Amino acid sequence: MSQRYRVGIAGTGSSMPSRIVDNNWFAAQGVDTSDEWIVQRTGIKSRRFAAEGEATSTFCIEAARKALEAAKLEATELDLILVATVSPDHMLPACALLVQQAIGATKAAAYDLNAACSGFLTALTTGEAFIAAGTARNVLVIGAETLSRFLDIQDRGSCILFGDGAGAAVLRRFDDCQQGEILRRTLGADGSGYGLIHMKGGGAANPPTHASIDRGDHYIRVQGREVFKFAVSTMGELIAEMTEGHSYDEIGLVVPHQVNLRIIDACLERMGWNSDKVMINIDKYGNTSAASVPVALVVGVRAGRVEKGKLVVLVAFGAGLTWGGALIRW
Ligand code: UT7
Repeated sequence: MSQRYRVGIAGTGSSMPSRIVDNNWFAAQGVDTSDEWIVQRTGIKSRRFAAEGEATSTFCIEAARKALEAAKLEATELDLILVATVSPDHMLPACALLVQQAIGATKAAAYDLNAACSGFLTALTTGEAFIAAGTARNVLVIGAETLSRFLDIQDRGSCILFGDGAGAAVLRRFDDCQQGEILRRTLGADGSGYGLIHMKGGGAANPPTHASIDRGDHYIRVQGREVFKFAVSTMGELIAEMTEGHSYDEIGLVVPHQVNLRIIDACLERMGWNSDKVMINIDKYGNTSAASVPVALVVGVRAGRVEKGKLVVLVAFGAGLTWGGALIRW
């Protein structure tokens, strides 16, 4: 990418539902599972589920307001809003329009992106490209999900994994914000894994019918074991690619997609890294798909784990299959 302008992260924010669902809740619904199995196999202790009346835009809007406040930017100064999600409020129009309207970003274009758990990295890279090219000056990128609405509570292989929430970042020309410069980025895809993490129904190939609803085609299905292997190798390769040429000391924090604690641990073990520089919050929030990386970043920033001048590595992969990485000087 030929860059006319360097791009920085001027502010971040997140928003989570207040309803906490612990692992015992699933057994109470009649699912053949246990807190012990879920903690041992995934690292998840609880997740947040949207309450009635809340949806993806609810969390997007709050996260967006916080990120704008942190960036000290008015919504009217935004040129573009990108929402990465696979669980928008509606099929049409885009969730980004609800955000645009609610925050009063009257001069911003707005649309959604679908790259599943790699969604935030995809939105970040897209927003960066707009600014780098001079097409936009200020871009709001959000990763957000309400996957709880697409979980088959009887499918123990998937229902225990996911949670809801949103994380947002305001991107600006580096000259305008003097922080969080995006130094590297990468995106990739492999459609041969299309069926591994899949919502079969609801789209044009299999529109909703009484029969499709009865079959549960609208629920998210995961072939966890297959994804597991892909995840460990991809995450390791992404971290290596993003940090190439930099010493371990320069790295402040690695923020991986919060997919499964065992996947993150296996990847670190392969790389010979310890976990003191790795952000983990899967125990509290589960896998929030597109929201996972930005929410973990915000939690890390708030906890003071990201020192100014140090490198932050973001890595994610997900349905598609898709993957993405970024290297940021905080
Ligand atoms: O962000 C991308 C989307 N996320 C993913 O794609 C998830 C990636 N994969 C994973 O995190 C893990 O593969 C899982 C957590 C989903 C599953 O862990 P695993 O160690 O790979 O278990 P498994 O699928 O090999 O299943 C082992 C056993 C099976 O029983 P049998 O066949 O050995 O009798 C499963 O039926 O564990 C059983 N099992 C459960 N038992 C209790 C699967 N889910 C559960 C459950 N509670 N919730």
